[in-house]
Amino acid sequence: MGSPLPGPAPSDTMPAMPAVLQIDVVSIFPAYLAPLDLSLIGKARSDGLIDVRVHDLRDFTHDRHRTVDDTPYGGGAGMVMQPEPWARALEHVVGQRGSAASARPRLLVPGPGGVPFTQAMARELAAEPWLAFACGRYEGIDERVYEFAQEDLGLEVTVVSLGDYVVNGGEVAVLAIVEALARLVPGVIGNAASLVEESHQDGLLEYPLYTKPRHWRGRVVPEVLLSGDHAAIADWRHRQRLARTADRRPDLLHASSAGADVDVRVATAGDLPELLTLLYAAGTPTTMESLREGLSSSTTWLARRAGRLLGAIRVEARGDTLWLAAPALVPDLDGDDLARRLLDVAQQTAVSGIRQLVVDSPRASAVRARTYRQAGYRLGGGHWVKRCSRHE
Ligand SMILES: C[S@@+](CC[C@H](N)C(=O)[O-])C[C@H]1O[C@@H](n2cnc3c(N)ncnc32)[C@H](O)[C@@H]1O
Repeated sequence: MGSPLPGPAPSDTMPAMPAVLQIDVVSIFPAYLAPLDLSLIGKARSDGLIDVRVHDLRDFTHDRHRTVDDTPYGGGAGMVMQPEPWARALEHVVGQRGSAASARPRLLVPGPGGVPFTQAMARELAAEPWLAFACGRYEGIDERVYEFAQEDLGLEVTVVSLGDYVVNGGEVAVLAIVEALARLVPGVIGNAASLVEESHQDGLLEYPLYTKPRHWRGRVVPEVLLSGDHAAIADWRHRQRLARTADRRPDLLHASSAGADVDVRVATAGDLPELLTLLYAAGTPTTMESLREGLSSSTTWLARRAGRLLGAIRVEARGDTLWLAAPALVPDLDGDDLARRLLDVAQQTAVSGIRQLVVDSPRASAVRARTYRQAGYRLGGGHWVKRCSRHE
């Protein structure tokens, strides 16, 4: 009854091999899934690593017009996918492996109201033995289908979103999700090492990539990459990842840099009264007006735990120098760990072109001076200075 993609993939009727990741996709546009026969996924299918089976939802209708949709109860624009064809299609998918309760696919339903699809979810799904996708069209699928899948078929159902926008159907989401998870299935990517430093693998974006020729249209490859100095290359790449993440996706950086219980975010106007109080408590009083001015000329990072403001650091790029105000902490904090974290967060905002970081704090306490030294700063010219890698 299914409609397998053309090509060498196993057909709908072949028994599943336990080690193979089976992926069933139900759609009213089976042809939309044809790209799953190309490139690495196509090869993984012909190599027997992934078994993709595409089913036409209309094959599970019983009227002359193969109807799958109807008008919404309660009124409103658009059409809703009827439950019965979906129930029959899902029963067929589940029935492929007989009635054993353990043999059940995990059902993924693409939808803009779902949990966001991430690399972490791709890893999770790549470890599943069997996945099924239900591609909605029109305004979506009758809500009772989700209940039926869970309660009557015993499936774990996850509504998954590609992002905060609306596309016309779930098929494009399935293409993206299957691409992302299939390349994590052992054996699909020849060189597994290439997965290690990719964007999102550890919460950071990837470093810039270069290939031959070395000189191209007046542009050169960064010298460090030609140096053969593996430690320097690794250091440069790590810094590039941090800087790129800070520049393009600061939301990722907070999570990867600040620790699980401390939330580090950029201050906004609404934070200023609290920040003013913190600065007084930390022994660095200022005025509301000056804080307000600072918001436009610099960035202030705030560290909170359970909502409480614990610390702040102000950062301002001038030319090739990133100027940091001394981290301000609430006085009851034990030790200087948070100061070190704030220094690290500030450093991560150093985009390429920054040659040095300077902390404007000549009269640091002994504890704070040790923190600066441990973070790689040296006292010079009345400031704590940290030079960026010579290759940057
Ligand atoms: C036009 S959309 C329906 C949108 C729905 N009425 C809503 O407002 O949430 C039709 C189908 O496209 C798919 N779709 C749309 N946006 C999506 C997204 N961001 N992520 C995953 N699937 C999406 C879903 O399968 C959905 O059922």
